[in-house]
Amino acid sequence: MSQSPQHFDTIAVHAGNDPDPTTGAIVPPLYQTATYVLEEVGKTRGYDYTRSSNPTRSKLEEALAGIEGAAHCAAFASGMSAVDAVLRTLDSGDHVVSSDDVYGGVSRLFNTILSRHGLSFTYVDTSFPERVAEAIRPNTKLVWIETPTNPLLKVSDIEALATLCHARGLPLAVDNTFATPALLRPFELGADIVMHSTTKYLSGHNQIIGGAVLTNDAAFHQKMRYQQKAIGAIPSPFDCWLTMLGMKTLPLRMERHSSNALIVAGWLEAHPKIARVSYPGLESHPGHAVAKRQMKAFSGMISFELAAGIEAGRTLMNSVRLAALAESLGAVETMITHPATMTHADVPRADRLARGLGDGLVRLSVGIEDVRDIIADLEQALARVG
Ligand SMILES: Cc1ncc(COP(=O)(O)O)c(C=O)c1O
Repeated sequence: MSQSPQHFDTIAVHAGNDPDPTTGAIVPPLYQTATYVLEEVGKTRGYDYTRSSNPTRSKLEEALAGIEGAAHCAAFASGMSAVDAVLRTLDSGDHVVSSDDVYGGVSRLFNTILSRHGLSFTYVDTSFPERVAEAIRPNTKLVWIETPTNPLLKVSDIEALATLCHARGLPLAVDNTFATPALLRPFELGADIVMHSTTKYLSGHNQIIGGAVLTNDAAFHQKMRYQQKAIGAIPSPFDCWLTMLGMKTLPLRMERHSSNALIVAGWLEAHPKIARVSYPGLESHPGHAVAKRQMKAFSGMISFELAAGIEAGRTLMNSVRLAALAESLGAVETMITHPATMTHADVPRADRLARGLGDGLVRLSVGIEDVRDIIADLEQALARVG
């Protein structure tokens, strides 16, 4: 029996990582199998078919539950299938209050697919708890938030929202992709469901697409398990195995992402060619006080607009050399994105503008490289902006 580790950095290295009982392998084996041979009719060794469960996936789920401090975890094939699994627990006619600034794929799922199956959505700026309270209707069954949001980095007060939701008998679901449990502990602040795109910081190396849903509610977790089996949006054993390797260094990476991003955000804010910077670690950010209270550090995501507008932003994004012009975020490499044409291209332009996501917005996922090189790259790219 291994002794329970006490501190986050220890849990990140050890959760789900007990030595293999047959060989002593320090890295849990990869069970790349579709099925399992039964000992006799009706007698399994706990596994019968990988869509239902797989030992490598079980280890990943144990590790994710360990770092998030949750009783239960179900891993999915992508962040989007994890969001979908949560929403599929609702019935036709149910209503959801959601953060207005969510990943474009999330609003696409809500507006173009789930709305055709009888769910309805109201989007509000959840940094204002009173707006959430006003949006709740008799048929509201879930409040869904991102904090910090993608891509505007708005910050919501989880404790205030959990209190408000619980007073009305509603669950609060938090997409913790941007902060990770290394920096933000939604369950300790009262959240009922935590969802992750493990594609991002949790795996951290741009190698896999994955998702997860965590909860302390056994009955809700059974619904997630049922969906893994009934719908089959499950991650491959190899992707689970890679995700676990990445997760071991999560605390170290988040520390570096955060310290680099704070320096880059301050540098951008002082730059004459930059009009606006949004980073929860900056005192100028409207959610700074809440972020400071509920987060350990401010993570690696920054968004900003150039003073000379859209064309200048385009020149910058086309001129970076170290930073990769790419869709994703949260990996060791610095990545730069144009939300209006990339991650949020499917959000109707009027909706984008209404929520403050302008055509000129640039999103930067600050990597773990030497921050001097990240700044030098932005500097040479900004020098090309007229
Ligand atoms: C905040 C957030 N949630 C969910 C998702 C969807 O995750 P995935 O791309 O793993 O399906 C993303 C993807 O960018 C995201 O940024």
